[in-house]
Amino acid sequence: MNIGILGTGGIAAAHALGINCLEDTIARLYACCDIDQAKVEKFCQTYGGRPFSDLDAMLADPALDAVIVCLPHGLHAQMGIKVMKAGKHVLVEKPMAPNVAECKKLIQASAETGKKLQIGHEYFLYPTVQEAAKVIQSGELGKPLMVRAELSSYIYNKLGTWWMDFEQSKGGPAINMGVHLIDITGFLLNKNPKRVRGFSRQLHPQAVKGIEDYFVMELDFGDGMFSDNRIYSFEKKIDVIRPAVTVFCEEGSLSVWSNELVIQKGSDALETRLKGDGSKAYLVFAEQIKQFKDFVEKGVTPRATGRFGMEAVACIEAAMNGDNGTWKTIKEICGE
Ligand SMILES: NC(=O)c1ccc[n+]([C@@H]2O[C@H](COP(=O)([O-])OP(=O)(O)OC[C@H]3O[C@@H](n4cnc5c(N)ncnc54)[C@H](O)[C@@H]3O)[C@@H](O)[C@H]2O)c1
Repeated sequence: MNIGILGTGGIAAAHALGINCLEDTIARLYACCDIDQAKVEKFCQTYGGRPFSDLDAMLADPALDAVIVCLPHGLHAQMGIKVMKAGKHVLVEKPMAPNVAECKKLIQASAETGKKLQIGHEYFLYPTVQEAAKVIQSGELGKPLMVRAELSSYIYNKLGTWWMDFEQSKGGPAINMGVHLIDITGFLLNKNPKRVRGFSRQLHPQAVKGIEDYFVMELDFGDGMFSDNRIYSFEKKIDVIRPAVTVFCEEGSLSVWSNELVIQKGSDALETRLKGDGSKAYLVFAEQIKQFKDFVEKGVTPRATGRFGMEAVACIEAAMNGDNGTWKTIKEICGE
């Protein structure tokens, strides 16, 4: 599969490393495009592929099979649709789009063009998260009772970048990082959220319109399972919170993120069951590409479909705007 990357910034490098560790017969980095000509040329010198600063020119190549969209969130839908209309399959980075209305347009474009749409949720593929799911499902810790997911995001050092420009980001850490919490929790529980409620605030004096710095989201997974999600934003690394999804079970608990899986059983000492290896994160992106290829070439539906990406966005959008604390069902927001 000949793959193009659109947007050659931070996450594009992880995708390029992932593609490059696969055999050429599986996937190869064929072309890259960025509005910044110097940046895309440097990227291609490092990772390979033909550089473009004109997307139409890249999409005009009939040998290009698929594109990974690695752009600011506000461009995901518009550019993902353009890619599919040009006859290419698309892997759109998370968040799928900043709101459900744009997610629906992406799904519709996929249906109309017949091109495959996958979303770049990869946290469930980290070995620590895979192992955590096995621990939960083995019953080692007993029946899950509830989930707490929490992280800090250091946003005010990003002032002046697209992340802090509402026109380009269309939101703050909730839409950016909150979808990872939903991805991990859903994988650990082996189910998706059914209802959501929450709220967001702007607490810092330098808060930018539309970029929340305090976000609370409660998710109801059905059968009495709830998750409590919190995202805080600061200027510096001033806190002691480590990003984690913690599952409390009848006989113990586990706490997991890409970098580690920690387990507490009864009154035993904390056990670090698995450490993540950040230098091998590209393997997770390689696995994502293999799933994308199976989707495109064999019709094997991946976990991170357009519907999956839209439901994650729906949770964030509803919680962001949910000041009155009323539950909303995901079906009500996304439709059947
Ligand atoms: N899956 C993950 O774990 C993960 C991690 C980081 C980022 N992301 C997602 O990837 C996306 C990009 O994030 P990033 O950190 O790589 O950002 P970035 O700022 O490092 O890169 C964005 C790139 O897009 C280019 N660009 C902007 N507008 C363009 C246009 N119209 N045409 C072509 N190029 C354009 C910029 O020049 C820049 O090189 C975001 O949506 C983010 O949420 C996902």
